Amino acid sequence: MFHTPILPFARKRSIPVDASVPRHDVVKFMDVRLYLVERKMGRSRRNFLTQLARSKGFIVDDILSDDVTHVVSEDSQASSLWKWLKECAPKNLPGVNVLDISWFTDSMKEGRPVAVETKHLIQEPLPTEGSPSPPVATVSQYACQRRTTLENHNQKFTDAFEVLAENYEFNNMDGQCLAFRRAASVLKCLPWVVWCLGATQDLPCLGQHTKEVMEELLQCGRSFEVEELLSDERYQTFKLFTSVFGVGPKTAEKWFCRGLRSFNDILTDPSIHLNRMQQSGFLHYGDISRAVSKAEAVSLRSIIDEAVHAIAPAAAVALTGGFCRGKEFGHDVDLIVTTPELGMEESLLPYVTDELKKQGILLYCDYQASTFDMRKLPNHHFEAMDHFSKCFLILRLEGSQVEGGLHCAEGDSRGWRAVRVDLVSPPMDRYAFALLGWTGSRQFERDLRKFARKERGMLLDNHALYDKKKKQFLEASTEKDIFAHLGLEYMEPWQRNA
Ligand code: CTP
Ligand code: MN
Ligand code: MN
Repeated sequence: MFHTPILPFARKRSIPVDASVPRHDVVKFMDVRLYLVERKMGRSRRNFLTQLARSKGFIVDDILSDDVTHVVSEDSQASSLWKWLKECAPKNLPGVNVLDISWFTDSMKEGRPVAVETKHLIQEPLPTEGSPSPPVATVSQYACQRRTTLENHNQKFTDAFEVLAENYEFNNMDGQCLAFRRAASVLKCLPWVVWCLGATQDLPCLGQHTKEVMEELLQCGRSFEVEELLSDERYQTFKLFTSVFGVGPKTAEKWFCRGLRSFNDILTDPSIHLNRMQQSGFLHYGDISRAVSKAEAVSLRSIIDEAVHAIAPAAAVALTGGFCRGKEFGHDVDLIVTTPELGMEESLLPYVTDELKKQGILLYCDYQASTFDMRKLPNHHFEAMDHFSKCFLILRLEGSQVEGGLHCAEGDSRGWRAVRVDLVSPPMDRYAFALLGWTGSRQFERDLRKFARKERGMLLDNHALYDKKKKQFLEASTEKDIFAHLGLEYMEPWQRNA
């Protein structure tokens, strides 16, 4: 069949792209970023095709950055093209579609990015003997060996995985829940966008089910399983109920089985007894379900610092949790309080909460006295909670004390908000372990403990590190000491967002 090229070659009429002229083309395909290879194509034709694609709503980048998802080349000589690509060495090369012009032509014809088929691909030639390709950096199965910043290039996948993981959690299917959390964690460490399933073949922790979800997202831009869940009554109700402070999946299940579906159903049902935590959760729901800003966290650290110093001048208060990992927003503020006098930490927190009460800012307090006993260590079974003295609080924060003001709902003129605050007070010689444990992320901690156990024969928790072979505790005064004992490269808190 005679094939009419729909794109005229622009050798005769060259249309230069003037970078100084603002482009008003409306972007229709946010997920796709093209880069046209000038080699073989020539500058004027490249300019022409660039304008054409932009006018159809495509993003076309002038430089080959890590954000590019589709590289289009007129040079179908795979070896020279790939050699050139590798010299440019974008980090995301394994995740990029390298395509010949036919994919571009088809997409222009359809007015949308068409699905990538084998016939479009310019595949990397297999290495010939004597010229081995450089080894691809392997991604560790342990989150504590993957530097993971907050920059997530694969949020489309990780958001979907989080919905599935959450639903498994609601249904007490811990294995599947963890599988999706682990898969999401692996994708979060990648410095490139996954654009085809082939790019994931060397990645750990991606099972059959996770790959099916990814395939659907790659091909259709959506996952039907996730969409079904998002409109599922059970999922929606669990999500709503567990958003209340003090309500976990167990309670949500109980309420759901009784036919309750809304907050109103719960609050008007005379047979429902709310504990003190849940009562506060409902009372301050609007405030504590809204994210806490970094500025609010910094202000609360100072407020606690002052309250602590009124009693223990030598004590120190450090921000930990998500804010320590560089997050701009969190669901609470996590603080570690320490004092150099061993033993004093056990009685410190009740004084602090008394002081907050006197100031009239203590809206809720759940104090848990220390049950820490070095003689009961090492602990062979991991427990969700450590044994240090701690308290879970809701505090009143005045807008005037926050630089830049409160992170509040529009039209809120109260001038204050309620914030969830966690305080923990370990003995000074346990500080490094507590800090490492409370800095998170949860997935990072989980893999750190697993790595210690499986790869090093050691037991790690928020209290201590124990060497099972040597039958001795390994001491540490900083987080770096703990990484060193474990034979791990040190990772800064902002690299622990696994
Ligand atoms: N943690 C803990 N023991 C607890 C509570 C929390 O060791 N009793 C640890 C968690 O494992 C986590 C860290 O403390 O690594 C912070 O917990 P959390 O505030 O729930 O999470 P963040 O990472 O701070 O996330 P967010 O910003 O949403 O608060
Ligand atoms: Mn937190
Ligand atoms: Mn917390």
